[in-house]
Amino acid sequence: MAKTTMKAVVLEQVEGAPGKVWYPLKLADRPVPQPSSGQVLVKILAAALNHRDLFCRQNLYPGVTFDVPLGADAVGVVVQSGSDDNKDWVGKRVVLVPGRGWEKDPEGPEGQYAILGGTKLCSDGTFVEYLAISPEELVEAPRHLSNSEAAALPLGFLTAYRAVFTKSKTAKALSECHVLITGIGGGVAISAMQLAIAAGALVFVTSGSQEKIDRAKSMGAAGGVNYKSPSWQKELRELLPKTRPELDIVIDSAGGDIVEKTTSLLRRGGIITTYGMTTGPKITYTMAACLKNIELRGSTMGSKQEFRDMIKFVANKNIRPVVERSFDNGFAGLEDAFSVMKNGSQFGKLVIKIAQEDDSKL
Ligand SMILES: NC(=O)c1ccc[n+]([C@@H]2O[C@H](COP(=O)([O-])OP(=O)(O)OC[C@H]3O[C@@H](n4cnc5c(N)ncnc54)[C@H](OP(=O)(O)O)[C@@H]3O)[C@@H](O)[C@H]2O)c1
Repeated sequence: MAKTTMKAVVLEQVEGAPGKVWYPLKLADRPVPQPSSGQVLVKILAAALNHRDLFCRQNLYPGVTFDVPLGADAVGVVVQSGSDDNKDWVGKRVVLVPGRGWEKDPEGPEGQYAILGGTKLCSDGTFVEYLAISPEELVEAPRHLSNSEAAALPLGFLTAYRAVFTKSKTAKALSECHVLITGIGGGVAISAMQLAIAAGALVFVTSGSQEKIDRAKSMGAAGGVNYKSPSWQKELRELLPKTRPELDIVIDSAGGDIVEKTTSLLRRGGIITTYGMTTGPKITYTMAACLKNIELRGSTMGSKQEFRDMIKFVANKNIRPVVERSFDNGFAGLEDAFSVMKNGSQFGKLVIKIAQEDDSKL
């Protein structure tokens, strides 16, 4: 008999100031949604965490709410169609576009943009067993990926794809560029490194951990330095090719003094693409950077078109997202996954398996 109720993970409201509060997770009972004529029903197989899920629990994310399920990343299988028009989707393994309101404009969203999970801006989140959704929001998952790898793909790789390909464009081809990616333990940072290496760039990294630098090197990074060292810029300069000891692009998610720290390493006209500010919501732009014509470019997630382009690139280049850990015990594994993310020990994505690999029945 088909299921009629399902579990969904939402936040429980408790008192506390933003940044100090830690909203508990609540497993809510919800009816299994019925797909309308323009929708299909997706059974979620696995979902992955992003830093924004942590920010939601800390009330550090705009529009946090308590009835929309958390989660932006997922892979699932289409188990039902609301009409014959979409019946070809049934049985397909799919990844979900993690944002709404942005079709294809490279400059930014055409409409009100919202990311899935935990906020008033979008009614869907992926920490659920089922989701009724338009097939417009789905792309077939690359066949070479496991469910955990596919769940790890959407938000991080879309953000990385836009940061690497759309926002870091220079007169030079990426294959001729020297690129620095900061905080390589981060989910987006690793994805950016994989994309840039696959495009032929020479990639350097920073991290707070030597072990993570070594992991990055084993994946093709040319070298790395520890950002906790007060002289990391000097150490990085030593690693740059002697024939052209300069960076073309910095892809950063730490913020703070990144402009000041990298100005002397960048070539004139170099680019700093920033997609996050983990250390605090501010970057200081300096006169020295201005005099060197260095451009600071903000970058967000990406459009539906960029998502499709990213999936195609990942499939063509056989890229596999790095999964730090896949929790097999369904939503019960979420607290452990949040703990790992909170103490920052991960290298790659944290994934929650929600249903069996071969279970395509409702
Ligand atoms: N603009 C957007 O649309 C968008 C989309 C996705 C993410 N983001 C933002 O991007 C950031 C990263 O997200 P994520 O999901 O990849 O997070 P994550 O997986 O939790 O990674 C965070 C990483 O930040 C690095 N870090 C911490 N302090 C640092 C410092 N002082 N200097 C350099 N790196 C430092 C750490 O790297 P090590 O472990 O190597 O030390 C850590 O692994 C967050 O601020 C997030 O909100 C923005």
